[in-house]
Amino acid sequence: MSESVQTFFPSREVARRANIKNMCEYQDLRLEAEENYEGFWDRLARENIDWFEPYNKVLDEANAPFYKWFTGGKLNVAHQCLDRHLKDRKNKAAIIFEGEPGDKRVLTYLELHYEVNKTANLLKNKFKIQKGDRVVIYMPMIPEAAITMLACARIGAIHSVVFGGFSSEALRDRVIDAKAKMVITADGAYRRGKPYLLKPMVDEALKEGCECVESVLIVERNGQDIDYVPGRDYVYNELVENESPVCEAEPMESEDPLFLLYTSGSTGKPKGVQHSQAGYILWAQMTMKWVFDMKESDTFWCTADVGWITGHTYILYGPLAVGGTTVMYEGVPVYPDAGRLWRMVEEYKVDQFYTAPTLIRLLHKVGADEPAKYDLSSLRILGTVGEPINPDAWMWYYDTIGGSRCPIVDTWWQTETGGHMISPLPGATPIKPGSATFPLPGICAEVIDEEGNKKAPGEKGLLCVTKPWPSMIRTIWGDPDRFESSYFSAAKVDGKPVYFSGDGAVYDEEGYIWITGRVDDVINVSGHRMGTAEIEAAIGNCEKVAEVAVVGKPDALKGESVFAYVVLKGEDTLIKEMDVVQEINKVITKEIGPIAKADAIKFVPGLPKTRSGKIMRRILRSLAKGEEITQDVSTLEDPTIVDKIQASMKE
Ligand code: PRX
Repeated sequence: MSESVQTFFPSREVARRANIKNMCEYQDLRLEAEENYEGFWDRLARENIDWFEPYNKVLDEANAPFYKWFTGGKLNVAHQCLDRHLKDRKNKAAIIFEGEPGDKRVLTYLELHYEVNKTANLLKNKFKIQKGDRVVIYMPMIPEAAITMLACARIGAIHSVVFGGFSSEALRDRVIDAKAKMVITADGAYRRGKPYLLKPMVDEALKEGCECVESVLIVERNGQDIDYVPGRDYVYNELVENESPVCEAEPMESEDPLFLLYTSGSTGKPKGVQHSQAGYILWAQMTMKWVFDMKESDTFWCTADVGWITGHTYILYGPLAVGGTTVMYEGVPVYPDAGRLWRMVEEYKVDQFYTAPTLIRLLHKVGADEPAKYDLSSLRILGTVGEPINPDAWMWYYDTIGGSRCPIVDTWWQTETGGHMISPLPGATPIKPGSATFPLPGICAEVIDEEGNKKAPGEKGLLCVTKPWPSMIRTIWGDPDRFESSYFSAAKVDGKPVYFSGDGAVYDEEGYIWITGRVDDVINVSGHRMGTAEIEAAIGNCEKVAEVAVVGKPDALKGESVFAYVVLKGEDTLIKEMDVVQEINKVITKEIGPIAKADAIKFVPGLPKTRSGKIMRRILRSLAKGEEITQDVSTLEDPTIVDKIQASMKE
């Protein structure tokens, strides 16, 4: 938070057309929610969801924190995203896809509806996928990722999309935890101008412990030679053509799970975040309308991968639920050059562009002059997500990409929240670069202490959400105790546990919220959330490693980088160090994926531990940054260890 930040006011042009036109309209909505919380959500749910059967209760708090929303209601999310648009928008582009080699595909709502129905029939008829079955989707960014997700939603199967950059071991863990009946993948895709393979990763993953998987469905994308396991593997493109394009949408209860999405926590095992049907889709829609100010003729582009929550909510479900046009791009953003994305903005006349600070920093660094070559005048709103944005990157985004006329919505949210929670509204909120500003209407996000007292301006506190909201995580798949202890044990308001995000934050004098980052052992590398414990567990598997501690180190490009302190077994450390560095990164790539590779590995004689054996990560974080150690080291089991570590880091 900076004292001297400039405030940027919404332009008259943006405000005039906006769905929420000024702070009064925003305050009215907030007040409506404050005065009658359930009434507010009831109104939104009635106005925005095409219910098969009405609900009989808005919010059921009987089993808190396992809150239920819109109970008794029935709907189908694929129907909400497709069927209901067929009357007015059947020939409108739903998905505009561009492959990395430059191939293009536009799917209208009618075409997407056909494809989803055929795929839904294939899953149901040939593979006997039923309501409640889990289907793991391990796919590149191609339209079939969206089609198969929607096909699952149509028949009531629970999808669990695993990011294509995760390793076969990470995929295996997720398949086993979800007890998935089927895996949908592709032969491969294109990256940096070359075909790469995905299917062999699935083969590797399924070698051990995945007896639950009965079949693997393979979408042909890049035509590479891959192995097929007879009786298990099937080619999607061949089978889907025989299916009927008529498939009734399964009526789903509001609280039936829509999907699982695994994310990192402070312990080694990823958490299967479970989302609901009605609450999730309602909030995806509302945030599209409010935060992105989505209009009928808009073309919306979110550059995330469908493997992350941002891709779920803002490539797929949100844009389609509001009947919008969503852009999907397969490849590397700087291929063949750093102008790729800007060329696409020009070509598709993108209205809203949503990306991560890490990509903005990269594009600024490697191609600051590229945007000038393209006409970016179609842009109306810019967005960021995933990590705090630094003023330099913000200004470049605002001036050079947005032509100093597009508000930047800095959206704070998480896998667990389903959709945006704290964000400016483009037509209403005066923006301060680097602040996510204020909670959205109906969202009670507050910076408090453990007892629920609101923090004064300038005092750091816990970023909590003090009332349940419709798109919140319902549970951790198969582990309700962990759900309660992970999210509802840090703070209480009026004696009642409230949701804690894991982030710290601070108010400024005007009540703006500034996110200060995670306060738990989770790090954020290029917008990817990773548990230090997960990386430590991987490194700990190297034979020569006795002990390891991983911390995040601030990084100008990636936000944070992975910094590992490693204690080797035995004495002859120097010889070992050389091959251990390679081994460590190999093992991380194998067990998690290349995104978690360590940027720095320091071999140290020991770790700073308390007498009870807890590693003092604060000290390690300071050492990684090269800071003076001001913490009290007298409580350490070996108070001299800090000097020893410092000395070994200088070597
Ligand atoms: O630390 C916060 C950071 O990303 C975390 C959530 O990560 P994930 O569940 O992977 O979802 C990322 C996309 C929604 C948060 O706990 N974060 C997210 N958005 C912001 C942010 N930090 C600062 N500013 C943001 N706008």
